[in-house]
Amino acid sequence: MGKVILTGDRPTGRLHLGHYVGSLKRRVELQNSGEFEKIFIMIADAQALTDNADNPEKIRQNIIEVALDYLSAGLDPEKVTIFIQSQVPELCELAFYYMNLVSVQRLQRNPTVKQEIQLRGFSDGDEDENQNKKGTPVGFFTYPISQASDITAFRATTVPVGADQAPMIEQTREIVHKFNTVYGETLVTPEMKLPENAACLRLPGTDGKAKMSKSLGNCIYLSDSAEDVRKKIMSMYTDPNHIRVEDPGQIEGNTVFTYLDAFCQPDSFEKHWPEYPNLDVLKEHYQRGGLGDVKVKKFLNAILQEMLEPIRQRRKEYEKDIPGVYEILRKGSLHAREVAASTLADVRRAMKIDYFDDAELIAEHTRKFAEGVK
Ligand code: TRP
Repeated sequence: MGKVILTGDRPTGRLHLGHYVGSLKRRVELQNSGEFEKIFIMIADAQALTDNADNPEKIRQNIIEVALDYLSAGLDPEKVTIFIQSQVPELCELAFYYMNLVSVQRLQRNPTVKQEIQLRGFSDGDEDENQNKKGTPVGFFTYPISQASDITAFRATTVPVGADQAPMIEQTREIVHKFNTVYGETLVTPEMKLPENAACLRLPGTDGKAKMSKSLGNCIYLSDSAEDVRKKIMSMYTDPNHIRVEDPGQIEGNTVFTYLDAFCQPDSFEKHWPEYPNLDVLKEHYQRGGLGDVKVKKFLNAILQEMLEPIRQRRKEYEKDIPGVYEILRKGSLHAREVAASTLADVRRAMKIDYFDDAELIAEHTRKFAEGVK
């Protein structure tokens, strides 16, 4: 059996550079590698609704944005199946059965869920005692189980995701192991695939904060105009103690250099800054002193514009045919549904809840009651 990829994103906003280096770019490479028999890319609207129940319009508006970001980043609907999670109801049924294999305590220990509950400010006590705080929605709390359905429904062998998703994959593997142990070998155990470049594992925001995130307003979006990108780079966080050009500068925690680590290509210097042979020499100069931030930022800008321009061009083309993009999603969702339904049939058979398809069961009961034995 060939290797299969399943991965996806919550449609809560447009995709940014963090998504690009952390996952999108990789997906396009994997798509073109020919190494995978099938690739499924899911727009996880149902998961997004687990903590946006009161804001369905936001999700609805962002599905097309994420689809456009995918296509403009170079995902090819001829090679990958792009689909919308909520249009594959089989996923819910799988999750419902997997829920029996996971304890409340195990979910409470999931580090990502724990952190996200804190981040969202859900109350950990009784809602009545904390009237201004909402409790954690059950759907949100259990989304790792739903994610296990997403992955297993497509018999994914490989899940390319960012480091924050590691606990989800771990939990999925546990569910698969438990299911296969209890009901017999049925589900495929997935492997997680992290980005290779360390700087891509978690790209900081332009303000130097740990993560690029819409709520922090520190993102460079794939759909930003060239001018917006330039402005954001020029106001990026660097080394606050690097005041005069001749001062020695610090590389660690300096966002501009973190971005260079993530985005610099072997030919970037030759193309945009031939005075330096490579990034190490540039870093040395900066640390020694005598190199101003603006020059380094202009270099970063040249690299990012070169990378983003073809993405912006492709987006412009797809934006001219929005019904066509919806058609890609509709066809992708239909195909995804067929695959998920076939896994669900296996699951039902393994769990012995396929009563009407089980001729043996009916024959056995026929014999049992004919003999008059109870
Ligand atoms: N949790 C993922 C995110 O927030 C999105 C997602 C949902 C996903 N289901 C998935 C990722 C299955 C990989 C596999 O980005």
